[in-house]
Order: sequence, then C-alpha cells, then structure tokens
Amino acid sequence: MKLFRLVPFLAAFALAMPLTAAAGDDGATVFKKKCATCHGKDGKGKTDMGEELKIKDLTDAATWKDLTDEKVEKQVNDGAKDESGKERMTAFKGKLSAEEIKAVVAYVRTTFAPKK
Ligand code: HEC
Repeated sequence: MKLFRLVPFLAAFALAMPLTAAAGDDGATVFKKKCATCHGKDGKGKTDMGEELKIKDLTDAATWKDLTDEKVEKQVNDGAKDESGKERMTAFKGKLSAEEIKAVVAYVRTTFAPKK
C-alpha cells in the first residue's frame, strides 16, 4: 500500500469536516455568530447596536421575570419590530435550523439567566 493513495481520502475528509460542523452549530457558536453583534458576547447588550436599540441585559433577573423558553424561542424565530414596522431584532426562522434555535435558546438560558 503506497501512502500517496491515501492522500485524496485524507484531503476529502479534511474538507468535509468543517462543512459538517457548519451544518449544525452548537448554541454557543450560534450565539457568537448571530446574536453577539447586538446582545454582546456577555449578553449584557453593551454593544453599539445594543445601546442604540436599548436592549435589555440578558444577565439581569428583571429581564427573565417573564421570559420562558417558549418566549425566547418565539423571539428568535420571529424577531421583533417597532411600531413603524422597522426591524429591531432579526427573525431567525429559516436562517437557523430548528435544532440551532433550540440550542441557542438553551444556551441563552443556561448562560445568562440567573439561577433560581
Ligand atoms: C439586530 C440586533 C439583534 C440580533 C442580531 C439579535 N437580537 Fe435579540 N433582541 C434585540 C432587540 C432590539 C431586542 C428587544 C426586542 C424588543 O424591543 O421587543 C431583543 C430581545 C431579545 C430577547 C428577549 C429579551 C427581552 O427584551 O425581553 C432574547 C431572549 C433575545 N433577544 C435573544 C436573541 C438571540 C438568542 C439572538 C441570536 C439568535 C438574538 N437575540 C439576536 C436585538 C437583536
């Protein structure tokens, strides 16, 4: 068995790895890629976008007073608009898979919500 025969297989394998990873990001990766521009990596919303949109601090217990997983999931699916119909938060339905949305909802709760 000559080693060079393996090269195309190894190359194909190396190429396929990041592709399969991109097909389903975990919650932390989704948050970093899709949410942190507005909400900040730390969830506090102290970004330029966050300040402008007056985003609530996701680490504040007050924010979580009436937030449930269902509401967060709906928020991520449907996004939010102001009274004039201008988008405030992106609707991620169709942009993220259902699995990614579930994963990011779980990530947001376990990472930012105050422990009860
Ligand atoms: C374009 C900026 C932007 C992006 C990107 C964004 N958000 Fe938001 N998010 C907002 C704004 C603005 C609000 C407040 C919504 C409102 O005014 O009704 C909000 C509200 C929320 C809330 C509810 C908190 C509250 O105000 O009661 C959650 C939870 C949330 N976002 C999670 C996420 C997650 C998870 C992602 C990524 C998948 C994400 N957001 C991406 C701007 C953004």
